[in-house]
Amino acid sequence: MQLLAYVGAVLDEARAWGLIRELGRRARTGNPVCARSGFVADATGRIEEVHAERAQIVIDPNAEPCFQSASRLAPEVRQLLDLYVPLCVGPGARDFVIGHVGQSLDGQIATAGGASRYVTGPENIVHMHRLRSLFDAVLVGAGTVECDDPELTTRLVPGEHATRVVVDPSLRLSHTRKLYRDGAAPTLIVCRQGQAERGAPPRVPVVEVASENALLSVSDVLLALASRGLRRVFVEGGGVTLSHFIQARRLDRLHVTICPMIIGRGRPGISLPGVDSLDQALRPVTRRFTLGEDVLFDCQLPRS
Ligand SMILES: NC(=O)c1ccc[n+]([C@@H]2O[C@H](COP(=O)([O-])OP(=O)(O)OC[C@H]3O[C@@H](n4cnc5c(N)ncnc54)[C@H](OP(=O)(O)O)[C@@H]3O)[C@@H](O)[C@H]2O)c1
Repeated sequence: MQLLAYVGAVLDEARAWGLIRELGRRARTGNPVCARSGFVADATGRIEEVHAERAQIVIDPNAEPCFQSASRLAPEVRQLLDLYVPLCVGPGARDFVIGHVGQSLDGQIATAGGASRYVTGPENIVHMHRLRSLFDAVLVGAGTVECDDPELTTRLVPGEHATRVVVDPSLRLSHTRKLYRDGAAPTLIVCRQGQAERGAPPRVPVVEVASENALLSVSDVLLALASRGLRRVFVEGGGVTLSHFIQARRLDRLHVTICPMIIGRGRPGISLPGVDSLDQALRPVTRRFTLGEDVLFDCQLPRS
């Protein structure tokens, strides 16, 4: 997948983000850019599709190399396009599942007691807000809502809120959690079959999904979300939830952000059953990005 860019006027960071938001909007509405297309951003940030010859930037999901620009792109603009455009274009962009984990050098996402604010630096926090805004749903496990009481809204960058999805199989979480009360964005709970009658927070819909040995089928979770129009899903954590998605081979991309910190015994990021030989290890195609003091590995995973 590549992106060709011809920049006549300056494409600054704000305009580049405006373009990425437009590409994300098209993907979310079922019409991702799948063929070579030109775009310009005007002074107000409005994005318009134009003939490639008049374009500030030309997107081509099927061409190599990713970027060619008539004028030089600032490094931060290049990185922005490089990191996010591939998540929004091409035929696979309509149904796309991405996971993210922010971990220490020793692979922990939080202390044993669950304190995780903040493992990674501010640039990576902004990155997560960007991801939320490019996806239909931001999904977390019950452990994350219990420990962090997060809002899961898009606040640090211009962009839409995703639907907040909490995997709480036995509806054990308190109804007083912020995201159940603030009304800031649509919110949905996914639980095991037969559990919905235990009672959900007011105005928060609950979806029941089949389970085996108390484990919800990740494919069924995704099907249930897709039937509600949530086809682009960002799995924000924590480690247990993300690991279920990796094990089920239902992630298209995995972002692992590593920060220069050693936590010691804590809550692990990715935790999967072992393999007998390294031939059986997952070897994703990766790209690396620097986010402040942190390093982000962008991993392409083969879906089952
Ligand atoms: N650094 C980061 O990137 C990051 C991101 C998010 C969170 N965090 C931190 O991570 C910690 C929480 O992570 P965690 O790994 O302990 O928990 P988690 O993944 O947030 O939640 C795990 C729980 O979610 C439910 N669950 C998720 N998927 C399920 C499935 N397929 N089937 C059945 N149940 C499922 C289960 O709930 P039940 O327990 O009810 O069975 C499970 O125990 C917190 O300390 C939080 O601050 C860090």
